[in-house]
Amino acid sequence: MSEQNTFYITTPIYYVNDVPHIGHAYTTIAADVLARYWRLRGRDVFFLTGLDEHGQKVQQAAAKAGIDPQAHCDKLAPQFQDLWKRLNISNNAFIRTTDVQHKSIVQQYLQELFDKQLIYKADYTGWYCTFDERFWTEKDVVDGLCPDCKRPVEQLSEHNYFFKMGQYQERLIDHIKQHPQFIRPDSRRNEVLGFLTTQKLSDLSISRPKSRLSWGIELPFDKNYVTYVWFDALVNYVSALKYLPQEAPAGNRFWPANVHLVGKDILTTHAVYWSTMLMALNLPLPETIFAHGWWTVDGEKMSKSRGNVVDPNKMIDEYGADAFRYFLLREVPFGQDGDFSKVAMDASINSDLANGIGNLLSRTLTMIERFAGGKIPTEGLPALPELESKIAQAATQLPSVIERGFTALTFRENLQAIWELIGLCDEYIDKSAPWKLAKNPDNAPQLRTVLNYSARALRLLAASLYPFMPQASKQLAQQLGLSLDLTKPVSRETYDWDSPVAEAIVKKGPGLFPRVLQPTTSETHVRGDAPKLLVTEGAKTVSDTPATPQPVPAAVPTPQAAASATPGTPAPAAPPQITIDEFMKIQLKTAKVISAERVPKSEKLLKLQVSLGNEQRQIVAGIGKKYEPEALVGKTIVIVANLKPAKLMGIESQGMVLAAGDSEVRGLATILEEVDPGTKVK
Ligand code: MSP
Repeated sequence: MSEQNTFYITTPIYYVNDVPHIGHAYTTIAADVLARYWRLRGRDVFFLTGLDEHGQKVQQAAAKAGIDPQAHCDKLAPQFQDLWKRLNISNNAFIRTTDVQHKSIVQQYLQELFDKQLIYKADYTGWYCTFDERFWTEKDVVDGLCPDCKRPVEQLSEHNYFFKMGQYQERLIDHIKQHPQFIRPDSRRNEVLGFLTTQKLSDLSISRPKSRLSWGIELPFDKNYVTYVWFDALVNYVSALKYLPQEAPAGNRFWPANVHLVGKDILTTHAVYWSTMLMALNLPLPETIFAHGWWTVDGEKMSKSRGNVVDPNKMIDEYGADAFRYFLLREVPFGQDGDFSKVAMDASINSDLANGIGNLLSRTLTMIERFAGGKIPTEGLPALPELESKIAQAATQLPSVIERGFTALTFRENLQAIWELIGLCDEYIDKSAPWKLAKNPDNAPQLRTVLNYSARALRLLAASLYPFMPQASKQLAQQLGLSLDLTKPVSRETYDWDSPVAEAIVKKGPGLFPRVLQPTTSETHVRGDAPKLLVTEGAKTVSDTPATPQPVPAAVPTPQAAASATPGTPAPAAPPQITIDEFMKIQLKTAKVISAERVPKSEKLLKLQVSLGNEQRQIVAGIGKKYEPEALVGKTIVIVANLKPAKLMGIESQGMVLAAGDSEVRGLATILEEVDPGTKVK
């Protein structure tokens, strides 16, 4: 049996008939998250992935490319290996089924089963699907089509070698019943049990005549045959342990595997073929085979012919590896099917990453720099005892919540628990308003607590997020001034809420996650006929179509300006009147400030991220003399929503905030009642 402190995790080995896509990335990322987590917890992890290089599909792909199959595999293998590097996949080994050692181990196992008379030769006639490389029985085939891929099948009759799989049916049923964790999720376990308890398990054809398939491992007892792709591929999980780990022999240490991660389409081959093969070889069965769901793309099946195959490399170019990793595991409960769309990904990156963890770090560090000279202070007196105890409770429980989640493979739920803590911290900063506490020296002890709590929560967040987003977590820890090596087992203190963080010198760096600029909706898109905007400038009123939105707030001009002029002084010219139609061209909307930061090297400008409900905007506003950025977060303001986007100090501004005041801002326009962001203002 594998030792308690080891953790062996595998992905399927991927066919090299094409370049990697989102489906391959999904399983490999999930496996990586588990591997990183258990390493962090001090377990001795072996994480295996690799390539399935034999079989008809590879032979056909090579023939199509006009090269020999090995050259084809050698050409495609680096595409997978490079992608895994870019996605920060921390696999300990990479197996290729064309490795000589693997081939020889497969042959040893075949010989062993042949000697035990568990492999025999027989005639076989059946319906063969070339695409799936498998035979179907008469009752499986519907209208001459493969029940799986719906391609035409052909009737083939040939001599083949068979593995006596059928004789293990009862033993397998018992094993599944006695080990509730063996096939997961439960719905999949029930499917397999349902099939095993209602149908007779037949023997498994494990060979192909060389005349039909030459690209495979030769049977040691018959040179005219190669082994069937699944017998070769499944053996990788044990063969790899015999020659790939650095410190040999690792086989006994890591087998049986803790988790085989597979897609739902290859569950039967793992739960039934592989399990019975292991029984025949007298090897223990893996602890868990977990079948995850499939991704569709914008609601459609992903396929080359539809041209909608999601290329993970493009996603990394556009969003970065961490954001892609995060989205795949946050969007869908692991085990269920999910839909991939860039709209959903943009929204999730902006709301959870840029505005969530990214913003929490940035505002905390800004405050530590501004109010504590850049050094995380010790805890002082309670500032908001109720929220403080909520944070302490959530933070104390988080490590065990996460451990349970990683044991159950509920990635999404783990992320939700982490984001609950982020939400609590945001609420805490909003409500305790450290920028106000800082104004009164009597409140210094409370201010220290707010900064200390926020920093401590961030330390825990760095460790908790690390398996999901290794790069960002590293940056987070660095910016907090903590020397955490998250690639090594972390000490208890990192997880322990009560262990001190004070005195660390923070080093605010670039934002963890850049915001994705979502395209403005057609409704709000300003075309050539941009409305004229009226801007008051001192006592003068100018009518203008600004090329850039004004950083100074635009107060809607009022005729009172003339009336309020001191008697005796010449009244400034009254602003020209506008028609209702002209006014209606200006689209005013409520917007909720999600985050705010100062524009470097500018006293006046703040960069705001605001939500209009179903859309997010970035606005650069000249209100920095009046407002601290932190004080604006959570406020609902009014903006000109259809102003042509423009750049201010190189930063795109997609609208303008309304405020009272002339050259000096006196106050922001807000709405008396609570209204949803994006509500029209008339
Ligand atoms: N070579 C076999 C596995 C042998 S394991 C001993 C194989 N390879 S594969 O390249 O075709 O598929 C690998 C994995 O990708 C499978 O787990 C499959 O479920 C997964 N996916 C393929 N398309 C997918 C989606 N659209 N979404 C999610 N995963 C998908 O099968």
